[in-house]
Amino acid sequence: MLLDTTLSFIGSGVMAEAIIKGILANNLIDPARITASGPRPERGQELRGRYSVRAVTDNVAAARAGRIIVLSVKPQVLPKVLAEIGGQTAPDALILSIVAGMRISVIRRGLGAEAIVRAMPNTPAQVGRGMTVWTATDAVSEDRRRQAQAILAALGKELYVADENYLDMATALSGTGPAYVFLFMEALIDAGVHMGFSRRVAQELVYQTIEGAVAVARETGLHPTELRNRVTSPGGTSAEALYQLEKGGLRTVISKAVWAAYQKSKLLGELAEK
Ligand SMILES: NC(=O)c1ccc[n+]([C@@H]2O[C@H](COP(=O)([O-])OP(=O)(O)OC[C@H]3O[C@@H](n4cnc5c(N)ncnc54)[C@H](OP(=O)(O)O)[C@@H]3O)[C@@H](O)[C@H]2O)c1
Repeated sequence: MLLDTTLSFIGSGVMAEAIIKGILANNLIDPARITASGPRPERGQELRGRYSVRAVTDNVAAARAGRIIVLSVKPQVLPKVLAEIGGQTAPDALILSIVAGMRISVIRRGLGAEAIVRAMPNTPAQVGRGMTVWTATDAVSEDRRRQAQAILAALGKELYVADENYLDMATALSGTGPAYVFLFMEALIDAGVHMGFSRRVAQELVYQTIEGAVAVARETGLHPTELRNRVTSPGGTSAEALYQLEKGGLRTVISKAVWAAYQKSKLLGELAEK
């Protein structure tokens, strides 16, 4: 088994469950080596029943039990958790944080640990189709990196970056990305309803169109501009619609939105550091 270690989750919510489900489905670890910690015993019971993992309500017990400790609580809860488990982790433990916006320096200071992986997943991780960007401190060994990578791969695709600054960029692009796509989908569905489609039919047309467009871009490897040119006949419907989208400043507004999310991510990281 790749994860020949013990794994503890501090925070047993949606993301912790997605990781547990993924790594067990891939037979990466024996469930008896997983400890999940959270405040509600009934949630622990649920996870125990579904995955045969050990579930506790004591973060310190979980922190002591794991050689890899996944921090999977909400950002506002993290300072309390760090104060609680600081000094309680094994000297050779790897800390793997998926907490949005929390810089490595905050975790290092809070726990006194050196081997830290910080990851930024996104919401499709809940169905194993996420995009996770991650980085690691120099103190993380090659072996530990491989293990962290295997854990994050349970959420979908993962990409290692050498510089933590890329995590703010990833937050703005892939982390926040689903929100942009959902808004785009919503606008298209509403446009379909406006023309007279039922909401159910409009939704199916939009979902399949988006999935198909991504599939063709991936399979052909062509740049989106080339693909767009191919479906834009002179004087046709696409040309008419694209003219309106450009006139409305779609491209500029998307660029501004992503940039604003990037700035916000940096600001939130700085605030959390103070
Ligand atoms: N969801 C995503 O797609 C996504 C994407 C990117 C990053 N993230 C990051 O992943 C982290 C987890 O997100 P999530 O969606 O899994 O949230 P979630 O479902 O709310 O999970 C958080 C868990 O932490 C538990 N908790 C609360 N207080 C605690 C404490 N003092 N000690 C231990 N556990 C405690 C909660 O228990 P109760 O429910 O009983 O309060 C809950 O089970 C967040 O930091 C988030 O920023 C999530």
